Amino acid sequence: MKDENFLKANNARSLWHPMTAPADSLKNPPAIITSASGVRIKDIDGHEVVDAVGGLWNVNLGYSCQPIKDAIAAQLDALPYYSIFRGTSNDKVIELAEELRTFFEPDGLTRAFFTSGGSDSVETALRLSRQYHKIKGEPARIKYLSLKKGYHGTHFGGASVNGNANFRTAYEPLLPGCHHIPAPYPYRNPFNETDPAKLAQLCLQALEDEIAFQGAGTIAAFIMEPVLGAGGVIPPHESFMPGVAAMCRKNGILLIADEVITAFGRTGAWTGSRLWGVQPDFSCSAKAITNAYFPFGAVMIAEGVAQVFEKDETGRAAIGHGYTYSGHPVGAAAALATLAETKRLRVNENAAARGAQLFDGLKTLKAKHSAIGDVRGGHGLMLAIEMVGDRATKSAPDKAVPATVQKVAYESGAMVRVSGPNIILSPPLVISEADAAVILSALDKGFAAL
Ligand SMILES: Cc1ncc(COP(=O)(O)O)c(C=O)c1O
Repeated sequence: MKDENFLKANNARSLWHPMTAPADSLKNPPAIITSASGVRIKDIDGHEVVDAVGGLWNVNLGYSCQPIKDAIAAQLDALPYYSIFRGTSNDKVIELAEELRTFFEPDGLTRAFFTSGGSDSVETALRLSRQYHKIKGEPARIKYLSLKKGYHGTHFGGASVNGNANFRTAYEPLLPGCHHIPAPYPYRNPFNETDPAKLAQLCLQALEDEIAFQGAGTIAAFIMEPVLGAGGVIPPHESFMPGVAAMCRKNGILLIADEVITAFGRTGAWTGSRLWGVQPDFSCSAKAITNAYFPFGAVMIAEGVAQVFEKDETGRAAIGHGYTYSGHPVGAAAALATLAETKRLRVNENAAARGAQLFDGLKTLKAKHSAIGDVRGGHGLMLAIEMVGDRATKSAPDKAVPATVQKVAYESGAMVRVSGPNIILSPPLVISEADAAVILSALDKGFAAL
């Protein structure tokens, strides 16, 4: 390996980081992580911290999950790759599809289409939802509805339904026919409504209005995250997603649950759809499906949608979509081992308990530090702190504030993620009570340093 000085000097010389201005990487060298164990990561200087980011919402079982590593190694020996395009399959992907069918059965999802990650999964669901309507003889249903503040990856389809200008403006024009409704975000919304239940109803009315305006017969699908993640962790009121599902059903619109973060226990429920008692038509997953050890994803498909494709007699149901790595046997082996560990450890239960501990802790921090405008959580290990310059006006914090909090928290034992004015917490689902306490005390020190 190149020595430490070489790595520090060259990080931004020859590589561009995602979601970062190249000049910023040159000016502010990132932490270079070189090893990890359990829920802790270690940087090139030997500084070890609790990873409150959980990789990128994906290392649910931590960094030392031996059964997954063993499964990957064994699969590389047995069959490192074979495609599942027409005419071939592989043993591991068949086994995985059966396992996922059982896992997602309570959500009414019975078929799997495999991908290489979250953006691929979103793209797949968006495409298949248009095709579904074409098979059914409703080719005019081509539009998509989604939530402002939602995040659905970075392919053109996903960026078009994304609800955050940061991921859109530089890449416009995006897909035509994508329309957004207000997010059920009580801290800031165009209705000035702070009551989550009332706000949910107002957002549902906005959805109803948009459907009427566009014409239900022109809309293919509505896509939403059960708990909005990258947009700043926004848990909707419990009435919201069921309300969306009912409205979609009434209007013949398919519901895509983007569960790239929420599937596999992060919210305290096994899936975000199950948290709200909703059965979507498609569910996009990726990230924790292999505990991040292999880039992989799956779109789960509802039985009713599957029947339309499988019973087609029009010749319109051939799937003209797929990735070289759809159903990669090493990814499938990793996912099988991950699912087995995820269920054996019942990580959803720990996510709920540790999530409650962290949410209580964040409320205490809010009472202590005026730079905290809002804290969000309450559904497992998805939490956020929204920083403000002034609580009364909710003005944006000074630019140096998030960076200072993050830096001091890191020095004090926890890696946290900054996204705009938000600090986002998404630690591994296997963190202990003591690990969660380290995260809270590091954040306390970060805010005390302002
Ligand atoms: C809800 C959601 N959808 C899609 C994606 C895109 O996934 P990927 O980065 O694996 O393409 C993400 C990534 O954070 C996500 O949070």
